[in-house]
Amino acid sequence: MTEKRLKIAVQKSGRLSDATLDILKRCGLRINQSKNKLITHVKNMPIDILFVRDDDIPGLVMEGVVDLGFVGDNIMQEVSLQRAKFGEQAEFVKLIALDYGHCRLSIATTEEQNYTSIQDLSGCRIATSYPYSLGRYLEEQGVSAKIVHLTGSVEVAPRAGLADAICDLVSTGVTLEANGLREDEVILRSAATLVRRPTIENEALKQLVDRLIVRINGVMQAKESKYIMLHAPKNQVDAIINLLPGAEKPTILPLAGSDDQVAIHAVSTETVFWETMESLKQLGGSSILVLPIEKMME
Ligand code: PRP
Ligand code: ZN
Repeated sequence: MTEKRLKIAVQKSGRLSDATLDILKRCGLRINQSKNKLITHVKNMPIDILFVRDDDIPGLVMEGVVDLGFVGDNIMQEVSLQRAKFGEQAEFVKLIALDYGHCRLSIATTEEQNYTSIQDLSGCRIATSYPYSLGRYLEEQGVSAKIVHLTGSVEVAPRAGLADAICDLVSTGVTLEANGLREDEVILRSAATLVRRPTIENEALKQLVDRLIVRINGVMQAKESKYIMLHAPKNQVDAIINLLPGAEKPTILPLAGSDDQVAIHAVSTETVFWETMESLKQLGGSSILVLPIEKMME
């Protein structure tokens, strides 16, 4: 009998691709990256990676064609609304909110328009690639406007005379600015997320998913955390530990040849800023080292 392999969908190319592959590699998956192939077999684990368009990921997950998907909340919401409208299965389980791919779905108008509130857009044309998310928002706001569905180049629609406003993704804001548009309303805040199909029956695959979740959380936690080592006067140990963000159980070690000094080793769950280092020094700390952490497991 051939072993069941876990199927994971990731974006082929776009805002989430690199960060997603980076996480998977940090989780120990050996991926021979050839993005032109639709599917890649992970060498050291029973996992297949499918490289697809981000818009296709929600459907693949909801239909159970793949087990897991790395995708933006924005696309998950849009496809869910669309599928629900057509009576299609729209269930999925959100496993982890990831710490990359931050963006927002916003309504923007030209700088010449004197936008004051969403009511101003009554009777207007709004171009978007997110007709269902926008439609729901307008309905909630009690605004009736014409939604112009475009699959790309939404930001040029106002200048091209195709629409009075747009509803599009914004991350840095560069695209809006380059097109003379102003962000007026945020209708959704989004980031990358790991989603699972509604049910996985196979016990081995379930366990593999659980292991992956632990590893992904470990990778995310490690990115934030730092390992701190320093020498400190014995009588300042408490004050120093109080300065280290999120360092609950530090290790205190004797220092060879010194009665009044100890070494403190601690894991800080937050970034250690220069200001913190300076305060440590003021309390008598010396030989202060802040090291990155590669992996973590509780
Ligand atoms: C979005 C959006 C803009 C751009 C905004 O496209 O359509 O073009 O990002 O980003 P900025 O604020 O940093 O300039 P995206 O890259 O998501 O492409 P897609 O919609 O085709 O997936
Ligand atoms: Zn896309």
